[in-house]
Amino acid sequence: MCGIIGYLGSRLAIPVLLEGLYAQEYRGYDSAGIATIEEGRLNIYKSTGKIAELDKKIGGQYGSATAGIGHTRWATHGKPSDINCHPHVDCRQKIALVHNGIIENYQEVKAALQDQGHHFLSDTDTEVLPHLLEQYYQGDLLAAMQEACGHVKGFYAMLALCLEEPRRIVAARLDNPLIIGIGQGEYYFASDMSALIDYTREMIILQNGDIADVSDQGVVIYNQGQKVERSVKHIDWDKEAAKKGGYPHFMLKEIHEQPKVLAQTMQGRLQEDCRRVDLNELALQKQDLQNIDQIAIVACGTAYHAGLIGKQVIEKLLRMPVMVELASEFIHNDPLIDQHTLGVVISQSGETMDTLAALRVFRENGAKVLAICNVVDSTIAREADQVLYTMAGPEIAVASTKAYSSQLMLLYMLAFHLAQILQRHSDEQLNVWLKAMYQLPQLAAALLAENEETIKTLAKTISDWQDAFFIGRGLDYAVAQEGALKLKEISYIHAEAYAAGELKHGTIALITPKVPVIALATQEPLLKMMVSNIVELKTRGAYVIALTRGAAPEVEHVADAVIHLPETDELLTPVLSVIPLQLLAYYAALYRDCDIDQPRNLAKSVTVP
Ligand code: F6R
Repeated sequence: MCGIIGYLGSRLAIPVLLEGLYAQEYRGYDSAGIATIEEGRLNIYKSTGKIAELDKKIGGQYGSATAGIGHTRWATHGKPSDINCHPHVDCRQKIALVHNGIIENYQEVKAALQDQGHHFLSDTDTEVLPHLLEQYYQGDLLAAMQEACGHVKGFYAMLALCLEEPRRIVAARLDNPLIIGIGQGEYYFASDMSALIDYTREMIILQNGDIADVSDQGVVIYNQGQKVERSVKHIDWDKEAAKKGGYPHFMLKEIHEQPKVLAQTMQGRLQEDCRRVDLNELALQKQDLQNIDQIAIVACGTAYHAGLIGKQVIEKLLRMPVMVELASEFIHNDPLIDQHTLGVVISQSGETMDTLAALRVFRENGAKVLAICNVVDSTIAREADQVLYTMAGPEIAVASTKAYSSQLMLLYMLAFHLAQILQRHSDEQLNVWLKAMYQLPQLAAALLAENEETIKTLAKTISDWQDAFFIGRGLDYAVAQEGALKLKEISYIHAEAYAAGELKHGTIALITPKVPVIALATQEPLLKMMVSNIVELKTRGAYVIALTRGAAPEVEHVADAVIHLPETDELLTPVLSVIPLQLLAYYAALYRDCDIDQPRNLAKSVTVP
């Protein structure tokens, strides 16, 4: 959601900035812009729509500027337009600024600045920032930024450039990510590490309240007016991981990466003989757990759907109550949590604003927080008491796939780990589950190899649908919710998930001839009831695609089409059953000619509430 890029060095700035913007396209945006300083004036280039439009406007005229800032904007305050697009400038066009976040008190700041004679052009909250800098500028951009930050409420990552100090970029961060890449006598700025990995692997991750003064002399960072040291981290991501690697879309690549990602997430955490899970990174002892009377899982979107599985698995294995809540609801609901609650927040990006707010609610109520994150050193990872990293690598497609399955994997391992500590199950029983878990990467690979063509054919049928229902019971219902989200977010087909047992309490009124239903029927004890539900739907003319674990003749008999998952322990089935649903959504979107990796209105990382 909004992407920031900046460069100060000796290369031509515009191509570096454009490349950095392209690399962050997946964050979601509706306009883009760049500012450089050249021949004593600020040059601003802006365009609504795709970055390619901005690139076309610039038309290869890169000039000679070697410093600049750029931005992709996801509209919050003010519709997408050239005026509202960043960079924004002050009255005298001497200061340019790009911003990610929201300035909550912008109306009062704007009114005060207007009283002082400042003239505003846009509808954005951001525009107050260059005017504040102008107001406080007395030949020192850093000092002006320090003063300006004291007058705004909200959250931000921002970069400022000033005509009078052309070899200086000042950066500030509060609750929105901002990274500084360190090259040989050159400096890069971005919202995401993946945008910089082609240039440098040495990165400083700015922390909340940091203001960085970057010039040819180096990087100096301040926090609350005091100089602070921030370590330079070596990022050893595989460069290719953030490229499509021959796949037409990141989403398809990431779906296919799941066998590898599942194995990576287990690596070093599952003993070779499958007798124990060792989450050595957790410092949870038996007495800590005895002090806990509930677990509360909080997340957004797909990560929340992973939490729904986590709840069922942990409750089954530990017999301890687990609450699972959407972060955006949790933070306003005066939740029943205290020091006897273990908070678990799940976030791929580690930057989702509502999940971060939930983490802080846990802390304020005395609860310890365990984060399950993918992005190393992200804000959520840093603020949590403990962190478990999902080893999914960079996830670029907006629709989450491999991050979800690695989150599931970690939730299973967490449940097994806690069950071991509390000695809730026999070693033999644990060994059965852990052996089954160890097989999952191989089974996921087989599932992909054997079913993709069938799923493609079914997706062709789905692509003509206006609506779709996903039904299931227990774990299947939780996976159904993820399947419905995947389908709606990338194919724009209206999709809803229902607990199969709820159909008769209202939803069945919507079932008429040819209404499509995807029925998950992977749980042996619930199979008979699922078959009855499918029959009820068929009686009303629905078209039913069923998902079963191995052969299930009773389902085959009643459904119109069946996708078979490889046999595994039914507790672990969600890790496999989501894969066909991801593929169905992908191919349905492909047949509908949708922008799969960057669906409309969506952003990869939701950094506003
Ligand atoms: C959907 C999707 C979103 C994210 C949600 C949380 O495919 O990706 O629903 O799961 O925005 O994001 P993170 O996990 O980064 O906190």
